[in-house]
Amino acid sequence: MNRTSGAPGTPRIPYGGDYNPEQWPEEVADADHRLFTRAGVDTLTVGVFAWSLLQPAEGVHDFTVLDRALDRAAAEGRRVVLATGTAALPPWLARAYPEVNRTDFEGRRHGYGQRHNFCPSSPAYRRLSTAVAGSLAQRYATHPALLAWHINNEYGGACYCRLCAKAFRDWLRARHGTLDALNDAWWTSFWSHRYTDWAEIEPPSALTEHWRGPDHTAFQGITLDYQRFMTDALLGCFVAEKEAIRAHSADTPVTTNFMGMYRPLDYHRWAPHLDFASWDCYPPLDAPPTWAALAHDLMRGLKGGAPFWLMEQTPSTTACRDVNPLRRPGELRLASWQAVAHGADAVLYFQMRASRGACEKYHGAVIGHAGRDDTRVFREVAALGAELKDLGDVTLGARTPARTALLFDWDSWWALEISDGPSRLVTYVDVVHTYYRAARVAGADVDVVPVTADLSAYDVVLAPALHLVKGDLAQRLEAVAQRGGTVLTTFLSGRGDEHDRAFLTDVPGPLAPLMGVRVDEWDARPADETHPVRLGGDLDATAGLVFEIVIPQGAEPIGTYTTDFYAGTPAVTRNRFGERGGEGWYVATHLDAGGAEWVVRQVLDRHGLVGPYAGHADVETATRVTPDGTRLFFLLNHATRPAELTAHEAATDLLTGKHVERGGPLALGPLGAAVLRLE
Ligand code: GLA
Ligand code: ZN
Repeated sequence: MNRTSGAPGTPRIPYGGDYNPEQWPEEVADADHRLFTRAGVDTLTVGVFAWSLLQPAEGVHDFTVLDRALDRAAAEGRRVVLATGTAALPPWLARAYPEVNRTDFEGRRHGYGQRHNFCPSSPAYRRLSTAVAGSLAQRYATHPALLAWHINNEYGGACYCRLCAKAFRDWLRARHGTLDALNDAWWTSFWSHRYTDWAEIEPPSALTEHWRGPDHTAFQGITLDYQRFMTDALLGCFVAEKEAIRAHSADTPVTTNFMGMYRPLDYHRWAPHLDFASWDCYPPLDAPPTWAALAHDLMRGLKGGAPFWLMEQTPSTTACRDVNPLRRPGELRLASWQAVAHGADAVLYFQMRASRGACEKYHGAVIGHAGRDDTRVFREVAALGAELKDLGDVTLGARTPARTALLFDWDSWWALEISDGPSRLVTYVDVVHTYYRAARVAGADVDVVPVTADLSAYDVVLAPALHLVKGDLAQRLEAVAQRGGTVLTTFLSGRGDEHDRAFLTDVPGPLAPLMGVRVDEWDARPADETHPVRLGGDLDATAGLVFEIVIPQGAEPIGTYTTDFYAGTPAVTRNRFGERGGEGWYVATHLDAGGAEWVVRQVLDRHGLVGPYAGHADVETATRVTPDGTRLFFLLNHATRPAELTAHEAATDLLTGKHVERGGPLALGPLGAAVLRLE
């Protein structure tokens, strides 16, 4: 057993996934368990959508199916992640307490239907959801199959009902204290908005401050606060269920499954309340491998670098997209090793058995409708199950020794995308991904951390699109450079305070001294209008969307615009800062991938952080260090052709048992993976 984080202690990487015995007669369980054994499955997530079965009416409980599922799992030597099932309401509940149904952004009170459909401020929902969580904990706290608690499912969305309006006002009172402070924070002297009574405040919706949807608000301050409030309101539901569980189950770790880069909820506000982080990885169509990697690293950053769980991924296809491509042979294995490489201590699927009816009947599953074990997907799942089992516990609890941090900030994300001007075309995650990817293709391990994180362990801090600069962040970034580190930030950074009020100083606000620049003007252009940027005298990169015009205040140009009236002015600058050779880099425009790679490579090079396989564009690397100091080096070949490499150190590949010599050949098959234990 290897227990170094708040995640459950297990003898190997837990493998399995969401399983819905409530959808099936008992005989099916016999067949399923035979197949689970064949696939090396030792972990089942049960009860995610079982509320209406568990509680057919208020005050009536029926644990038959869960009893059977947990007893059966225990008898088979499997463990259960037990869900509280509170993400989908039973119909009787919505009928008895109509207040539980959400009111949407357009102001429409919904009737019963779908899931993720409860109002977080509803007292009836709070009472009944915590009661069901408590009754499950009371019954199963000491069950031998119980491994972890899984509260609700993919918390998200928002509600705009009267109960939420009232809760918002209470939340605002606690945050701002006085109406004067609130008026100042929201800058309500604009458009005659000065509030004189808390009761005048409405949730910002299509009926109030917004037009053209959730991104267009007359008052960023109100909308930012509503997003924070909704984050906290849903978190309140989680915390209340967790407390109900803790009344009976003191130690079993508790999580809820997140969604990676999910804009509506600031997961950093949630993180302290989870025992371990877990998330569901469904990359967008055509997303490069660095998209999932960024999300994994963001999830690992939630608990200070502690391993997280991959709670869901599809073994083959999704169902909810307009077009649902199949994972090609080998892709599932590679994506799973990628998750482990980035800190996952569990590999789980949605779903173990395909549902017979309703909207997910075509969603990929380990076991399809025909119940076969001779399908291509089952074979791949079983092969990976065997591989993970053979690996044992070596990766569990291992940490990423990153010397590069990337700041990820939901407030900046929200503020950037709900502001009018300079450009609606800039999306936060695109800019963040550009710099994350640039560091990853250079072979650097990256911790994706909140702006409140301790930065003292990092040589390089990347702060792309750091739109809001809150608290003492600017001083802490300066401290990085003062001890010789490098800080990089980009266009549209340092623009607002925590309320998204502009700083009454030169752009980039509190970041200006570190960056040694001043920005007075910026030019936003249509998506198809790009400008070349000359980098380091020889490379021409392409830039787009926003062109800030930089007036150096001590910084030296590293890249320059070569067209328009700002031709010859700096597009990328470097500022020496402090006594120990620290630097602040400012990128004033949205560079293309190649341009960002070039810039980030200069920065990483200064600190010796370019990885040994950086020349192999398709080969991803990641390091984890186990609690006993063993260094594990993951190599992932994202190409469908083999990769011929030269080993940078002597090592043993834990997946094949083969020894590689330093300087000797190291081959990865198409979509191949290696887990090198370095010597
Ligand atoms: C989410 C949910 C699951 C299921 C899958 C389908 O991650 O948590 O219940 O709907 O999506 O991809
Ligand atoms: Zn509500």
